[in-house]
Amino acid sequence: MLRASGVVLLLTVCTTAARGDAARVQPAKNACAPRPEASEGPDSDLYCIELLPAGDIESASGTARLLSPSSPFGVSVTPAGEHVYDVLFDLQGLPDPASLGPYTTHIAWATTPQLHPVVKLGPVGNGIVKLGRVAFDRTLILITAESSPAVLERGGRLVLRGTSASVRMQPHDLAFLLAGLLGKSDSAPADHAHHTAENTTGAWTPPPMHPEVAMPPELMTLRPDVSSYLPAKDDAIPLARPRELLRLRDGDTVALTAAPVRRVLFGRTMTMLAFNEQYPGPLIQVDEGSTIIVRFTNRTDFPTAVHWHGVRLDNRFDGVPHVTQEPVAPGASFEYRVHFRDAGIYWYHPHHREDVLQDLGLYGNLLVRSRDPNFFAPANREEVLMLDDLLVGDAGPVGYGLEAPTHALMGRFGNVLLVNGEPQWNASVNRGEVVRLFLTNVSSTRVFNVSFQGAAARMKVVASDLSRYEREHWVENITIAPAERYVVDVRFDEPGEATLVNRVRAIDHIQARFFEETQPLGTVRVSSQRATPDHTAAFDRLRRNAGVASDIERYRPQFQRSVDHELTITLEPGDLPFPLRPLMNFESVYRNPVEWSGTMPEMDWVATGRTARWILRERGTGRENMDIHWRFRVGDIVKLRLVNDRAALHAMQHPIHIHGQRFLVLSVNGIPNEHFVWKDTVLVPTGFTTDVLLELSNPGRWMLHCHVAEHIETGMQMVFEVEQ
Ligand code: C2O
Ligand code: CU
Ligand code: CU
Repeated sequence: MLRASGVVLLLTVCTTAARGDAARVQPAKNACAPRPEASEGPDSDLYCIELLPAGDIESASGTARLLSPSSPFGVSVTPAGEHVYDVLFDLQGLPDPASLGPYTTHIAWATTPQLHPVVKLGPVGNGIVKLGRVAFDRTLILITAESSPAVLERGGRLVLRGTSASVRMQPHDLAFLLAGLLGKSDSAPADHAHHTAENTTGAWTPPPMHPEVAMPPELMTLRPDVSSYLPAKDDAIPLARPRELLRLRDGDTVALTAAPVRRVLFGRTMTMLAFNEQYPGPLIQVDEGSTIIVRFTNRTDFPTAVHWHGVRLDNRFDGVPHVTQEPVAPGASFEYRVHFRDAGIYWYHPHHREDVLQDLGLYGNLLVRSRDPNFFAPANREEVLMLDDLLVGDAGPVGYGLEAPTHALMGRFGNVLLVNGEPQWNASVNRGEVVRLFLTNVSSTRVFNVSFQGAAARMKVVASDLSRYEREHWVENITIAPAERYVVDVRFDEPGEATLVNRVRAIDHIQARFFEETQPLGTVRVSSQRATPDHTAAFDRLRRNAGVASDIERYRPQFQRSVDHELTITLEPGDLPFPLRPLMNFESVYRNPVEWSGTMPEMDWVATGRTARWILRERGTGRENMDIHWRFRVGDIVKLRLVNDRAALHAMQHPIHIHGQRFLVLSVNGIPNEHFVWKDTVLVPTGFTTDVLLELSNPGRWMLHCHVAEHIETGMQMVFEVEQ
């Protein structure tokens, strides 16, 4: 089922044994094995539950597949971050219920290993039926014979049962066991153990431990095999100031300089980076259809370039070093002509060593105004929020890899969250006010799952990366992957305080435990005074955007076309420092569709770009990353299939971004999308298969890559060419 490692084998044996009797009657062929035609996923090992007969009912068998329902976001989760599933049953050999006792029907239930709470899914019979929904960390599926389809509680005889992949996680002392080997240097392979500071120049300070996850102290002696980089400290460096709004008109020129700044954050003075000494960079506001000239100067220590994320501009100004321009050397300048074709919210960031430069503060928003005054419904105010995290130790940010990125597997999770570069965002509104939030996730790897707690806040999602939605949708939470944007209208109906929070389910792999992480991002104080003007009527109505719908309609005939190109997203782990590989093997018994949090900061930190290579692999040719050659013509429409390889040693989610064009998400795991919007970035959860329809409207050489900063820096990128 997984790779042959002693640890996983051991676990497999334990798990099978725990199933007790049932293991012995288990059919030789795993019913969850993917059908050959089912290449659209999701991965069977993670999302298919094999149902085993109970007691002497040996004839019955079947599967329960966990299907992520269509959602306006990359994945469907509750405000608490639990993954939401419909359950697709495929059952055979169910006996006549009457043959088992005073029963008339079979009922499917979902519950947890603690058998509480229980959700009645509904009646089932032999064959295929889809029921739902469930949202448990660990799911137990039970099928019982019952006296009536109307029963509310499970009382009859158990016929079939099975457990989700997450149940396979078992608490273990493995990390402690392996850490013991580090103490005895001859037991651990010497060249794997980078646990001395010899090969590092700047002294590394390890990241702080996760407050909720105990790790053995020996692991704190590991060091990455690269030198530590942080911008040099100097009291002459200016103190950064909050971002300013820069309203530009067609033809305007603006200077943008990336340079060190001093920031006072969490009681420490740190040297970070900023555009024009502002955090985030200036908020540039333009009208749709306009062109601006940006004179960029690089005063950082790295060569770089500025990328205008999501903007369908002239290829020469896309800001990709070695692909669309030579890198801008430290001290040098480059002039960009940025043309804004689509209204919406975009952002700019460096496109070289994002893991360092972007993480230290080089990011800013571009707000492109539509010429249509009714583009959005009326709102009382707008807030443009950039969501970020930062990994901070006692002395300031944890160092970055100079020669290659640290955090090469998971990406760098911060231990503190930032909104517009500050630990806390505050707003005061009147009761009934409609606030439009423009959200951008600029973190290196973190997927946010945000919602409001406290005073009632009703939300609807109205737009994403490159357009408004075909139809607006009520939502309870917003799941936003790195580089994605969502525009959300919120009405605050109740006086009091509404707290914007990031709520997720973190996993402590050592204890095999899910736990809640709730981190506040900001506070909205709602006064009892009524908002004027009152936009209630417009807010209460979900709009259907006819313009967007008719635009998308033109592509509908292409929705059913066969897949033109397929990419597998995977990892070549290389010579990882001990004990990463056995730990990863151990963890991979289960992988969350989205890894929400970095719960083992030391382990995440020590894998570097020298030992791990992330891969986009083309199906058919086997070509990888920059060796892939796709050629298109302007006007082409192609279907791409993105398959996230669950068997990768460190399988996780990947936000895949395409430059210079726009695409529609057609389906996720074969489930048709019901929430159309033009995108430039899509989250592909672990073991998921996502089909997108890419429109090639813009000539040039363009990138397709993962937007986890450490993944693009360790290989996960390719270039495709669009000819006139
Ligand atoms: Cu936002 Cu290629 O990047
Ligand atoms: Cu981009
Ligand atoms: Cu990635």
